[in-house]
Amino acid sequence: MIVTLVTGGCGFIGSNFVRHILKARKRVKVINIDLLTYAGNLANLVDVEKDFADRYHFIRGDIADKRLLEEVFEQFNIDWIVHFAAESHVDRSILGPEAFVRTNIYGTFHLLETCRECWPLDDEEEIAKKRFLHISTDEVYGSLGRSGYFTERSPYAPSSPYSASKASSDHLVHAYFHTYRLPAIITHSSNNYGPYQFPEKLIPLMINNAKKGIELPVYGDGKNVRDWLYVEDHCKALLAVLEKGVHGEKYNIGANREKQNMELVEFICEYMDEKLGLRHGRSRRELIRFVADRPGHDRRYALDTTKINRSLGWKPEVLFEQGIRQTVDWYLENPGWVENIVNGTYMEYYQKQYGARLNGR
Ligand code: NAD
Ligand code: TYD
Repeated sequence: MIVTLVTGGCGFIGSNFVRHILKARKRVKVINIDLLTYAGNLANLVDVEKDFADRYHFIRGDIADKRLLEEVFEQFNIDWIVHFAAESHVDRSILGPEAFVRTNIYGTFHLLETCRECWPLDDEEEIAKKRFLHISTDEVYGSLGRSGYFTERSPYAPSSPYSASKASSDHLVHAYFHTYRLPAIITHSSNNYGPYQFPEKLIPLMINNAKKGIELPVYGDGKNVRDWLYVEDHCKALLAVLEKGVHGEKYNIGANREKQNMELVEFICEYMDEKLGLRHGRSRRELIRFVADRPGHDRRYALDTTKINRSLGWKPEVLFEQGIRQTVDWYLENPGWVENIVNGTYMEYYQKQYGARLNGR
């Protein structure tokens, strides 16, 4: 068995990844450690708990709690680590950056320190089998103009507290590889979308609001560009990196599906109109509102993914239109999942983030 410690496995990408790896690899056992913050949800993995009871183990815990991490390493002989746990939403990092520093920087540091103490770093044969896969983002590279792509050699220029905290953790991970030969690999992925994404992020927020007939808040001029990657394609890329990636290397993971935010929101509205019919005779596009821009809003992200395409043979499989349709279908078919999340705490956040912007238009 390959014992795989997944951190943040109850979040959006983590839960998709846990399901994917357990289905795809019978010789993998997953230990999922997750603090269950507002973004962590046990409901994301109810099927996994049932279907893979013998190969899945959940621990509620904080990656910034080093004693707990040491206990986990004592109890299980960990081969691979896939480190997703993080505070992940840019807007929340602007409202309150401290949690980002704590989890993304200190949490990663404690995980690295535990590996340094518990893994036999001077035993080359043993360490060749280990992996510390650190899940990072394209946002650490900063913002692009109309043209150009980030490669794995692009300099770091993070601009939000979120991306700065991720950049900081990347530097620590790389330093542990360089200094202690910790078997680390870093991946930089573009924006993910798909089932189980928390409805504070652009795509599920728009689907949820459009369904309810609530305004669709588009920041600034709506021309910011993101490269949208279907979450399952990301999970397949991560498995390829775990199995074929090289220690100390970085891999960009993107879909080459750049879209302006307005284009994306309009596409969601059109598909929902087509699927559900017009709302009171009107297109959901009429719900779109331009609201005050996000401070320091990065204009465009785009990745050069030649390295992972050529060296690991990975390519995205899901086309943008197909992925968006599948995602809308999933949210419409799982109203209970969204409703259980859109509770008091979420509404408090929503009011803080959007209240004045929408009311002050
Ligand atoms: P998410 O916010 O949906 O999930 C984060 C998970 O981490 C939650 O389950 C949460 O409970 C858990 N967590 C938070 N703090 C913790 C702590 N201190 N200890 C243990 N668990 C903790 O995030 P996501 O969108 O699934 O992103 C996962 C990773 O991928 C993050 O590292 C993020 O930076 C990175 N990433 C995300 C995207 C994207 O588009 N979502 C793109 C590129 C990279
Ligand atoms: P988001 O999903 O927060 O991802 P990120 O900021 O990490 O790329 O936002 C994606 C894009 O959508 C980004 O340009 C900000 C924009 N956006 C809106 O226009 N309105 C919204 O309500 C949200 C949440 C995001």
